[in-house]
Amino acid sequence: MIKKRIYSPGPVDVSPYTSLEMAKPIIHHRTKEFEAVVAQCVEGLKYVFQTEGDVLIFASSGTGAMEGAVCNILNPGDKAICVRGGKFGERWSQLVSKFGGEPINIDVQWGQAVDPAVIADKLKADPGIRAVYMQASETSTGVEGPVREVAEIVGQCDGALLVVDGITAVGVMDMPVDKWGLDIVVGGSQKAWRLPPGLAFASVSEKAWGFVEKCTQPRYYFDWTKERKSLGKNTTAYTPAVSLMIGLNQVLGEIKEEGLEALFARSASYAEAFRSGMKALGLRLFAPDSPSDSITAVLGPEGMDAGLIVKHLASKYGITIAGGQDDAKGKIFRVSHMGYLDALDMITAVAAVEMTLKELGQTVELGAGVRAAEEVLTGK
Ligand SMILES: Cc1ncc(COP(=O)(O)O)c(C=O)c1O
Repeated sequence: MIKKRIYSPGPVDVSPYTSLEMAKPIIHHRTKEFEAVVAQCVEGLKYVFQTEGDVLIFASSGTGAMEGAVCNILNPGDKAICVRGGKFGERWSQLVSKFGGEPINIDVQWGQAVDPAVIADKLKADPGIRAVYMQASETSTGVEGPVREVAEIVGQCDGALLVVDGITAVGVMDMPVDKWGLDIVVGGSQKAWRLPPGLAFASVSEKAWGFVEKCTQPRYYFDWTKERKSLGKNTTAYTPAVSLMIGLNQVLGEIKEEGLEALFARSASYAEAFRSGMKALGLRLFAPDSPSDSITAVLGPEGMDAGLIVKHLASKYGITIAGGQDDAKGKIFRVSHMGYLDALDMITAVAAVEMTLKELGQTVELGAGVRAAEEVLTGK
């Protein structure tokens, strides 16, 4: 018997309490009962996004909210800076092109964060730039982006919006939408929300709504004006993902009970424990300078295909993690710190990597990684 464990950067593990909520008999969405669910979801989402503004909900994967964050604000020919330091930064650039915009790509070496000064220079050089698209956490590389610094820069430009992919950041790290002046932040349910895939979120500032009003781009399902109007009446424009939203309410209740500060501190401690464990095993981090707290990307041992670690964890221990993509394929493995997991789950992840390395013929001191992780989690 192998007990299955999932440490992938989405989907993540879902708690049995959430699953039980979602397993309840389906209710119709055009009812008072479901209106209460919508109202509660919106209130809870505003708490986690830390905004008084709108947070829209879509029955789609996270990319749906990303698409909406392009087709609702950019007109054909509009220029937009896209920070490309990984797979998801590339997605922003592709979306801008698809909708007839002109991406101004800032290519960043994978594993490193963008330098905000480069964004400031580009904005200064071209006042026609309408938006800056970036990742708060680039899941393909495990890098945390300098959202706060970039927000300060973009906030000084009346003609440009800051759009943040917070899909693996919201609910993990402190990113207060209103306080930092983030115009659009997108999220996805299969990450820190501890839910199955299928819901996408987007917070939208008043400044961003001004852009939406002037946007002539064709759009239908992802027409944000329509969705805002419906949410104002505690309903959704189209059939919502009813069961997922019921599950979302359950998770939001747990998050409120824990409190954001405690949640962020807990996520940070798991990430720090895992990173410490990996370093104690002699492994190097792919993003040592600005690691994300939602996911850690680790370089495999010198001369070894890191994909073997991913395969061994799955076949011997029933553990799902992620490998590297594109140029990072075979070089890194990625372990998530999101979802229904606790400190001991992080220890399990470190122990599993430790045992895997040993079984794959590497020289490791068994227990060294676990000890280092435990030292972090117990405050030494
Ligand atoms: C940072 C980031 N952006 C965008 C996406 C795309 O989200 P989805 O696969 O839900 O469409 C992901 C998913 O892994 C992600 O981690």
